[in-house]
Amino acid sequence: MANVVIIGAQWGDEGKGKIVDYLAQFADATVRYAGGNNAGHTVVVRGERTILHLVPSGVLHPGKICVLGNGLVVDPGVLLEEMDLLRKKGIRLTSKTFFISERAHLIMPYHRRIDTAREKSKKGRIGTTGRGIGPAYEDKMARCGFRFADVLTAESFREKLKIILQEKNAYLRYILKEPGFGYREVLEQYSEYGRRLKPYITDTSRQIHELIARRKHILFEGAQGTLLDIDHGTYPFVTSSSAAVGGVLTGCGIGPRSIDEIVGVIKAYTTRVGGGPFPTELHDVVGAHLQREGKEYGATTGRPRRCGWFDAVAGRYSMRINGMTQLALTKLDILTGLDSIKICVGYRIGRKVVTEMPSDPSRLEKALPVYDAIPGWKQDIREARSLDELPRNAVRYIRYLETLMGIPFGFISVGPQRDESIIVRDPFEGCNRS
Ligand code: GDP
Ligand code: IMO
Ligand code: MG
Repeated sequence: MANVVIIGAQWGDEGKGKIVDYLAQFADATVRYAGGNNAGHTVVVRGERTILHLVPSGVLHPGKICVLGNGLVVDPGVLLEEMDLLRKKGIRLTSKTFFISERAHLIMPYHRRIDTAREKSKKGRIGTTGRGIGPAYEDKMARCGFRFADVLTAESFREKLKIILQEKNAYLRYILKEPGFGYREVLEQYSEYGRRLKPYITDTSRQIHELIARRKHILFEGAQGTLLDIDHGTYPFVTSSSAAVGGVLTGCGIGPRSIDEIVGVIKAYTTRVGGGPFPTELHDVVGAHLQREGKEYGATTGRPRRCGWFDAVAGRYSMRINGMTQLALTKLDILTGLDSIKICVGYRIGRKVVTEMPSDPSRLEKALPVYDAIPGWKQDIREARSLDELPRNAVRYIRYLETLMGIPFGFISVGPQRDESIIVRDPFEGCNRS
């Protein structure tokens, strides 16, 4: 049996979509456990690019099961659009292969408006994706959120919506100076969403348990990254969900012993979208190289991603938080052409050099990276399918990162396409292939 968790080890956009798509061929089901459509997971198969925001990235393998766990906040309009888009590509989600947790929370229209209005007004903005994620999780914790189960029960949905909408409209109008929402309009829209999505809404925890009991292989697809986790990330510049491994348990309703492998996806350099401290950020020609060659633009918002060198302090922290059992290194090809490659091995804060992530953002903001450097390589590596086919300095870089991180890379990605990969050890190795 092998149930594998895929987790972003940095600030998101590490290439989780590509890794999940690759591994999904060996799995029976792919399950998203946290976040919402703030995620943008890119999969490229035979030159065709698909960006997934909610539907798990295993969907491009026909007939495999896809699940949205209870830990998500789902914008039902966005989900329906994504399902339509997939249908146009010839991928049909059916009630036999696609399941949405009845306990997952809904993003309501006021969540989106609150999110964008706060971003417009606040100093020191988070730089959210504006999708209503934070406000939806706030309501979940405040116990006034709507779950899929609610929209299926017309009577109670009507009553609850009336009360909540009054509160939300008052907040929008008087505090945020934004227009409110009409009761009828929201009621009709969400009742319609409920009707359209009803065939897929179920108790997904039970379904996942059944799959586990039948010794099926499950991929748990993380969204965002460990440094964006609400508890372990660079708070307050984080998202509002448990992006790290703990989110799998609460976000799916499974026990820790159902997890066999934890794969951290980590880019060969670092990127971050939105605000917040980023010690290795570059504002020079190398930063421009990473941005240009890596096509570092947000898959959800199109915003340019901030780019910098690999940060081993952040990487090791992320390893510890998640107890990763192996790593997948992505975008190694983007470093091709650089004369020298730097790796951050510590932070100088004031007079001290530290090798642990500080929890205080103002200290992290002051952190000056301490770098090691190794020589780069010039040859194109996108055709490489084994470590032997990589230039010597690329292997040196990989080995150095492995030493710093303390665990090996099982997977090295050298291009965006599914097959542009070097498999050193796949996490489903040794189990009966489905
Ligand atoms: P995710 O959110 O972690 O799934 O990552 P995104 O899809 O937001 O961003 C990763 C980007 O890098 C996407 O455009 C991928 O197609 C691309 N990508 C993934 N792995 C590689 C790689 O090894 N090399 C290159 N050049 N691109 C990659
Ligand atoms: P994937 O799954 C990168 C960032 C936003 C912002 C912060 C809070 O594609 O890796 P939110 O809208 O969640 O309240 O924004 O989190 N963020 C991401 N950055 N990749 C993501 O997802 C992200 N999801 C949220 O840019 O800084
Ligand atoms: Mg992304």
